[in-house]
Amino acid sequence: MTTEERPTGGHGGASARPVIEVRGISKRYGSIHALRDVDMSIFPGEVVGLVGDNGAGKSTLVNIIAGALAPTSGEILVDGAHVSFKSPTDARDAGIETVYQDLALAPDLSVWQNLFLGRERTVRGPLGWIGWLDRRAMAQQSVTDLERTRIRISSVASRVGRLSGGQRQAVAVGRAAAWGSKVILMDEPTAALGVEQQQKVGELIKTVASHGLPVLLISHNLPQVYGVCDRILVLFHGRLIADLRPEETDMDGIVGWITGAAMLSPGSAR
Ligand SMILES: Nc1ncnc2c1ncn2[C@@H]1O[C@H](COP(=O)(O)OP(=O)(O)OP(=O)(O)O)[C@@H](O)[C@H]1O
Ligand SMILES: [Mg+2]
Repeated sequence: MTTEERPTGGHGGASARPVIEVRGISKRYGSIHALRDVDMSIFPGEVVGLVGDNGAGKSTLVNIIAGALAPTSGEILVDGAHVSFKSPTDARDAGIETVYQDLALAPDLSVWQNLFLGRERTVRGPLGWIGWLDRRAMAQQSVTDLERTRIRISSVASRVGRLSGGQRQAVAVGRAAAWGSKVILMDEPTAALGVEQQQKVGELIKTVASHGLPVLLISHNLPQVYGVCDRILVLFHGRLIADLRPEETDMDGIVGWITGAAMLSPGSAR
C-alpha cells in the first residue's frame, strides 16, 4: 500500500489524499541532526500519535509543520500543494493550528476573548461567519464553537484563570478546532493534567477528528496515545522508524520501537 492509498483512520474509511504531507524533512542544529529524512502523511479525520524518547525530534517536526522552524531540507504539502511557511502566522493562515503544553491562553481574559485572541479583526469562524469587533457576536460564536466540540463550560464569559486545568485545555483545543481547517498539532497537551482530565481531552480529540479535522498528537502518555490514536508514528534519533496501528501492536510493542529494541528484532512489523 502506498502512502497515497492509505485509508483514513476510522472516519470515512475510503482512500483519501493526505491533508498534510511531509517529504524528506531534515533539520540540523549545527552538528545535531534533529530530523533525518522524515516522510509523513496525515489524512482527513485521523488522530495520529507521534511518540519517541526525549530528544527524538517530535517537537522539531511539529514546529516545522507549524511554521515556527524552517527545515534544513525537505518539503511540506498541504492538500497536495507545496507550502513554505515563514512564520506560525503563515501556517495558521493555511489552516494549521497548534496546541502546546502551555496552551498560550490569557488567564485574565474570558473564554470567548481567548477564543478570539489575536483574531478580533478577522472574526471568521468555521461556519463562514464574519463580523466586526462585536462582543456579543463573538461570545455567541464561542458558544457555538465549543458546542461543536462538546466542551462544557458554564459560561463563555468566565475568566480562563478560574477554570480547571482540564477546562483550560478544552478551551485551547476548542480554539484550535474553531480556527483550524487542515490539522491540529498538539505537543504534549495533557502533560500537566490529572487522569480524568486527560481522558476528557482524549475524548475531545476524538470528537474534533470525527468532524474531519485530523489531529497530530505528541504525548509521552502511551496509554492515552494507544487509546486515542488511529495510527502511531515513532521517531527514533530523528528518524521515523515505525508507522503502527493500535490493533497491530500493543504497549510493549510501541515501547520496543521507542527504545529502538524493535529494530533489532527480525519479527517486528514496521
Ligand atoms: N534550538 C535548538 N538548538 C540546538 N539543538 C536543539 C534545539 N532544539 C532542539 N534541539 C535538539 O534537537 C533534538 C530533538 O529535539 P526535540 O525538542 O525535537 O525532541 P522531542 O522529541 O520533542 O523531545 P521531548 O520528548 O524531550 O520533548 C534534541 O537532540 C535536541 O537537543
Ligand atoms: Mg518535545
